[in-house]
Order: sequence, then C-alpha cells, then structure tokens
Amino acid sequence: MIQFLLNDTPIAVQECSPSLTMLDWLRTKKGKIGSKEGCATGDCGACTILVGEEHIDANGQLSWHYKTINGCLLLLGNANAKHIVTIEAVTTGLYPTLSDLHPVQRALVECHGSQCGFCTPGIIMSMLAVYINHQTYPGKKAIIHALGGNLCRCTGYRPILLAAEKAYSYERSYEPYSAMAANFKATLFADLDDIPFLKNGPRKFYLPQTAQQLVELKTRYPHAHLVAGGTDFAIELSQNMLLPDIIISLCQVQELSQLTDNNGELQIGAALPYSQFVELFYRYYPESKELFERLGSSQVRNSGTLGGSLGNASPIGDPAPLLIALNATMELLSSAGSRTINVADYFVDYKKTLIKSDEVISKVTIPKRPESLKLACHKISKRFEDDISTVCLVVAVEHAQNIITQARCAMGGMAAIPKRAKCVEQLLLSQPLHVSHFIDAARAISDDFSPMSDVRSSANYRLTVSKNLMQRIGIEFCQQVAPINSSNNIAITRISHASL
Ligand SMILES: Cc1cc2nc3c(=O)[nH]c(=O)nc-3n(C[C@H](O)[C@H](O)[C@H](O)COP(=O)(O)OP(=O)(O)OC[C@H]3O[C@@H](n4cnc5c(N)ncnc54)[C@H](O)[C@@H]3O)c2cc1C
Ligand code: FES
Ligand code: FES
Repeated sequence: MIQFLLNDTPIAVQECSPSLTMLDWLRTKKGKIGSKEGCATGDCGACTILVGEEHIDANGQLSWHYKTINGCLLLLGNANAKHIVTIEAVTTGLYPTLSDLHPVQRALVECHGSQCGFCTPGIIMSMLAVYINHQTYPGKKAIIHALGGNLCRCTGYRPILLAAEKAYSYERSYEPYSAMAANFKATLFADLDDIPFLKNGPRKFYLPQTAQQLVELKTRYPHAHLVAGGTDFAIELSQNMLLPDIIISLCQVQELSQLTDNNGELQIGAALPYSQFVELFYRYYPESKELFERLGSSQVRNSGTLGGSLGNASPIGDPAPLLIALNATMELLSSAGSRTINVADYFVDYKKTLIKSDEVISKVTIPKRPESLKLACHKISKRFEDDISTVCLVVAVEHAQNIITQARCAMGGMAAIPKRAKCVEQLLLSQPLHVSHFIDAARAISDDFSPMSDVRSSANYRLTVSKNLMQRIGIEFCQQVAPINSSNNIAITRISHASL
C-alpha cells in the first residue's frame, strides 16, 4: 500500500489503477474538485497542488519543504510518504469573510486578479508556495518565475503579480502544514511496506526504496515502464492512452536521489528533480541557467529529472546538448552491475538509445570545469516561459594562449537525436579564438545537420537561427578574451535565408 497525508487527513491506498494521476484521484475519488483540469499535459497550471517532502539538513534537523507540482502529471503512487496540500486546505470554513481568507487569496480578491476563476486555484497554490518559502516579498522576477507555469486566459497577469506582492502587506499568516505533516509522519509511517505498491488486478505500481530492490524488480519485469517525475510519462498516459501493466517508480530510490560534489565533479542522481540540483550546477556552470531556468515551469522543474529526460530520449530535450557539450557520462545500472557511457554516445536514432531492457539510468556525472572553458547555452522557443525548444545550441571551448584546444558543440531540435556538430568542432579546433572562425563554423552547421520542418518551425528557420547564434557566441567569447576594439572588431552580417 502507499500512504500519504492529504491536507490534514492520512490516506492509505492499495487497490487503485497504477496509472491514475493525483488530479483524477482527487476529483473522481475524493470529490476534491477545487484543483481544475485545463489541459492534462502540464501546460496550464490549473491543477497545481503543493507537495511537502521531509528534508534533513546538515545538522540532522528534519523539516518539511513545500513545492508546486502539476496534479495532472503526478502519479498517485508517487505521493507515497508525502504531504499533498490542495486548494481546499488553504482557507477552511464554508463562508469565509475577506479577512478569513489566506493572505494570498485576499490579495488576489483585492487586486481583482480573478475573473472566470478557472485558473485561480492553481495560481493561488503557486502564490502560496512563494509565500511559504519566502518570509518577505522576493521581488517581481521571482514571482514571474514561480508563476511561469500558470496560464490565465481572461484576467491578465498584472493584477496577479500585484496580488503576489500585496499578500506580504497583511499580517503574516500562520502556516499549519509542516505541523500537520510532522504529526502524520510520527504516527503512521512506522509500518510502511518494504516496497510500497498499488495494484489493480494484474496491474501493479512499485515504489522500490533502494537500488537493489529496483534492479531486482527490473530483472523480474524487463518490460515494466519506469517513471521518475512523470512529466513525460503522464502525458503518454493521458494523450496516447498508454495502459502499462507494471510501473516501477524511481522517485524514492535513495541511491538515485543523491547529489555529490567531488571537488567540482558533479554526480547527479537520475531521479533527483531539477529544482534540487540546479543551484549547485549554476555554481560551476552559471551559463546553464539559460536552459534550466527555462525548462518547463516551476511545477515541471520540481518533478522532472535528468534520468527522465535521457530516458525519454527526445530530440528536443534541453539537458542533452548541455551534457554532451560538457562531456558528461551516465551510469546504467542492472542486476549484473553497472556500466558508464558518454552521454554523447547514448543516443542512437530517434528515441533509440544504448540502454538495455534490464537497465536503469542511475546517475549523470559532469566533469570538473576546466579553467579556460568558455560555455554558451542558447534556447530558441516560441515562448520564453514553459515552452519546449525549437533549437537548443550549446558550445564549449577551451583555449590556451588564445588558441582553441578543445571544441564541443551539441545541438537539439536539429536532427532525430541530440548530437554533436562535428564539422563545426573541426573548424574551430586549433584556430585562434577569433570571431571569423565562429562565422566559418556557423556556415558548417549545414554540413552537420539537415533539420526538418514541423509545427515549431521550418528547417530553414532552424538553420538560420542556429548559424546566427553561432556568430553571436563567437562575438561573446572573443569579447571576453579581447575587447571589441581589437582585431575581433570585424563587421558581422546576420546570415539570412538567402545566403544559406
Ligand atoms: C509542460 C511541460 C513542459 C516541458 N518543458 C520542457 C523543456 O522546456 N525542456 C525540456 O527539456 N523538457 C521539457 N519537458 C519534458 C520533461 O519535463 C523532461 O523531459 C523531464 O526531464 C522528464 O523527467 P521526468 O522525471 O518527469 O521523466 P518521466 O516522465 O518520469 O520519464 C520519462 C521517460 O524516461 C524513462 N525514465 C525515467 N527515468 C529513467 C531512468 N532513470 N532510467 C531509464 N529510463 C528512465 C521513463 O520510463 C519514461 O519513458 C516539459 C514537460 C512538460 C509536461
Ligand atoms: S491540467 Fe493543465 S497543467 Fe494540469
Ligand atoms: S480568471 Fe479566467 S482564466 Fe484566469
């Protein structure tokens, strides 16, 4: 069985469809219809809920941390041992007055931040997460970041942003959530199953807690579907009507949730959500903010994982070009042991990879940053927030005495797999760090890639934008080495469609 706390009510479930999402369970089994379903694909945020998880700090102190998650992407089984807070718990009482409302609700009313109200529960939950996690107003940028996954189709965002600030002008509300959760943990979790599970006839959902349990299950059920954050997998369920018999969740496997910094070499557990490792990543590779800060929304980054991104093997996943350019490796684990491969070699063809049916991605290792490394990450998408890439380009060069000694360039959205631009790399290698070589390299992108046209853009656009980005990277890199009034100050012409 799985156990979790729903608002202030302990829940234990055993008989249930393994592929049921939290949103469907809340609405159809619990009558909690405050969380709305707008899209069922993680795009609108109307289903946003809070998920509380226990954290242990360096001094061994336990505390509960709350983050936003899309209820439509969270599989019910993945709620095990967590505290689920829904909109119904934000204000209690049947007919609350304005001053009974939680400050974030009261502010939204007073700033006229809701019209039809469909998006409002999700917006309130995102505002609530900010309010719980920041004792003082964190600024407009942080609010926009936190609300990036919440769409409102009628009110407009100005009153909503104002409300997020105004919430801090009232007397601070007492947040009862961690106290509820601490009590729940003490009383109920004494008798958790070794491997918590859900079942519905022959269909099963397993939540192994250790790598040993995980590989044993994967050997017993080689065709079982793995799930980590579920941000890709839940869409397979809702859009492609996938009905798996056996699901094995990775999200509570301790070994897959570790984050290690070995003197600058980072080891990131495959099941660790983005929001739990990006701060450390930025310390060594601040340039990667361009990709990670724009990967989905807060809700998606709070669930999604590197293992899920590589496991999904999408040609437009943002982490792969970065990992390839940084020469990262990945560990594949099975009951026979583990093997390590380069992320660059992992992708074989569209959605085909080197992983075997009994293997699981267990961690990703990013080498220590070389001293002379210059890194540039660019993502082109139709919207800035919460949108998948049209083109993703990452360039990493090392240099000595102004000569390029290593060049790694990887792109997403340009082929059936994320892959290196070997002709581009060849043209950069051993050349002086000068803009003109990046212009030459930009032209070679057509030798490396023949992108396709799809709903996101035409093939021509993909080539044009990636060539212009390569020129821009050249200017940026060379400005950092020598100011623009030196010999790097040459005329740059944007490559147009006509000159392709
Ligand atoms: C609204 C929305 C916006 C998004 N925006 C972006 C974006 O901007 N950029 C981007 O790159 N992605 C984006 N994504 C895609 C997704 O969030 C990422 O690919 C994420 O990293 C997937 O991780 P997950 O843990 O949720 O994967 P899951 O959904 O749990 O799993 C995905 C696949 O990988 C397999 N898998 C999971 N873990 C492992 C493992 N350890 N070993 C082997 N196989 C495994 C699963 O079986 C499944 O087939 C978006 C998704 C949504 C819903
Ligand atoms: S229903 Fe739209 S994000 Fe979940
Ligand atoms: S108030 Fe109608 S969608 Fe936001």
